Amino acid sequence: MDKNMIVVESPGRINMIGEHIDYNGGFVMPAAINKKLLIEMEPSVSDSSIIKSKLFDESLEVSLKNFKRSEVSWHNFILGVLDNLINKKGFELKNFRCVIGGDLPVGAGVSSSSALICGLLKGISSISNLNLSNEDIIKIAREVEHEYIGVKGGVMDQFTIINGKQNKLILLDCRDRTHKYIDADFNHYQILLLNTNVKHNLSETSYNERVFECRKALEIINGEDNQYRFLTEVPLDVLQKFKNILDKKIFNRALFVIQEQERVLRAYNKLLEKDIYSFGELMYKSHDGLRNLYEVSCDELDFLVDFSMDKEYVVGSRMMGGGFGGCVINLIDSGFMKEYISKISGLYRKKFSLDLSSDIVSISKGLSYG
Ligand code: GLA
Repeated sequence: MDKNMIVVESPGRINMIGEHIDYNGGFVMPAAINKKLLIEMEPSVSDSSIIKSKLFDESLEVSLKNFKRSEVSWHNFILGVLDNLINKKGFELKNFRCVIGGDLPVGAGVSSSSALICGLLKGISSISNLNLSNEDIIKIAREVEHEYIGVKGGVMDQFTIINGKQNKLILLDCRDRTHKYIDADFNHYQILLLNTNVKHNLSETSYNERVFECRKALEIINGEDNQYRFLTEVPLDVLQKFKNILDKKIFNRALFVIQEQERVLRAYNKLLEKDIYSFGELMYKSHDGLRNLYEVSCDELDFLVDFSMDKEYVVGSRMMGGGFGGCVINLIDSGFMKEYISKISGLYRKKFSLDLSSDIVSISKGLSYG
């Protein structure tokens, strides 16, 4: 290996419970996983930078002095990072060559976009001696996603990608990022991700719509003399008083957020008590809320969760991430894994004429480089 080359390993993330809670200022329970992007980067003396994606088998050539937004979606993650560092922060960057590979699936709800952005920031920081701290990387990654990509996400993904630890779940308070690591001890149960291989084109606009609906709920509740900083801080009995004031849809969004928040804290206690069954039940309840109150699920996701329900070897199952496609996370007895994957894949193909992808994941360390 060239001595100037650096290799960044940037993992994807799972979230056991606490969906759509990060931007509402509450507790979530994510972890980094063993599926990662591998970003190899080295300085270049030429007057442009070249980024190759192994996945798309395509390259992007950028002049750092003059570039604009692209029609190609993956280009904009790179251009967004460059735009932020050069035009917003005023850094002088050196040209580089970079190859992006690894085994992290794209569009599967495991946050490949934040993994890419955080990984690029780490690599560019090292090559151009920017000395970005982990905090800087989390902050800039969010700016790129909010401003250049246009998705108004919370902090869960970037925080987890940077701070993940081997075999530890994170109980993260998204209000101030205080966090605890919890042993991911699920006994003989393993984490299985089933990827629907669909991403409905609603995903980005509807995600932002949910963010705004939650803000609206909080604004109306606070309009009546209340001063809650986040929707997760509103007690259920206070929300109930707004049942006839809030639009039904907005009320349901807020109800989901408050209930989901309570579920995360219960799930944390269940984990400490090593009560995996109750933990799994909370995952099912989370899915139910995401489906009926928050309305971010879809037929493909519901099918996968519904199918698991009467299988006693699956203790919990729910959609994971932003929704409208992506994947379902399952806690499943390892002895039944093979049989289950084969059965559910066949039925899924029959119903939706689509292939289901499956990944048994383990909980791994956060971003690393060397
Ligand atoms: C996406 C966002 C996260 C979070 C989840 C839903 O992954 O990037 O910030 O809001 O959706 O929990």
